[in-house]
Amino acid sequence: MQDDLERTLFDEATIMARLDEIAAEIVQDYGDRELTVIAILNGSLIFMADLLRRIPLPLKLDCLSVASYHGGTKSSGEVVFKQLILPEVAGRHILILDDILDSGLTLNSIRRRLEKAKPLSLRVCVLLEKRIVRSVPVKADYVGFEIGNEFVVGYGLDYMERYRNLPCIGVLRKELIAP
Ligand code: IMP
Ligand code: MG
Repeated sequence: MQDDLERTLFDEATIMARLDEIAAEIVQDYGDRELTVIAILNGSLIFMADLLRRIPLPLKLDCLSVASYHGGTKSSGEVVFKQLILPEVAGRHILILDDILDSGLTLNSIRRRLEKAKPLSLRVCVLLEKRIVRSVPVKADYVGFEIGNEFVVGYGLDYMERYRNLPCIGVLRKELIAP
């Protein structure tokens, strides 16, 4: 799997060190307000598991399954909610966790949907944010790392459902991406 990477962007130790910092920020910001974390499946699974174990606060965890990619490397622009029943949001402090902010279409539509359910507050935390111009205005409150406009895999991020179990994050070799 490692051989399929053009280069590594963040190794495991670098990711862990950054998670310590994000967790400390979250602990400082939320203090004694009980947090409800909503992890966006499947991409945020590994990030979520490592981040939440660094947050020594009472919190609740829920998951939300959406699809926006349908296998390729470009967002389809259409976000499909795969669950009939959405997590409980009303009257809670919600922190959405996602793997990467790319076009922003996914997070924008999740945010709009959850805001309708009247949370007390709603923030977004992403492991990666691509440095690109977006047609939809989306802001993440916590960002692990900024990256260029390249397709990356590993540490939860996939290409056609593969590479999620790579412990590092790297750029996938271009010749492996179907045209
Ligand atoms: P967006 O709606 O374009 O912001 O993209 C949302 C989803 O696309 C993310 O949650 C990822 O699952 C996937 N995605 C976007 N960029 C990448 C990438 O570079 N590698 C792997 N998945 C990506
Ligand atoms: Mg994906």
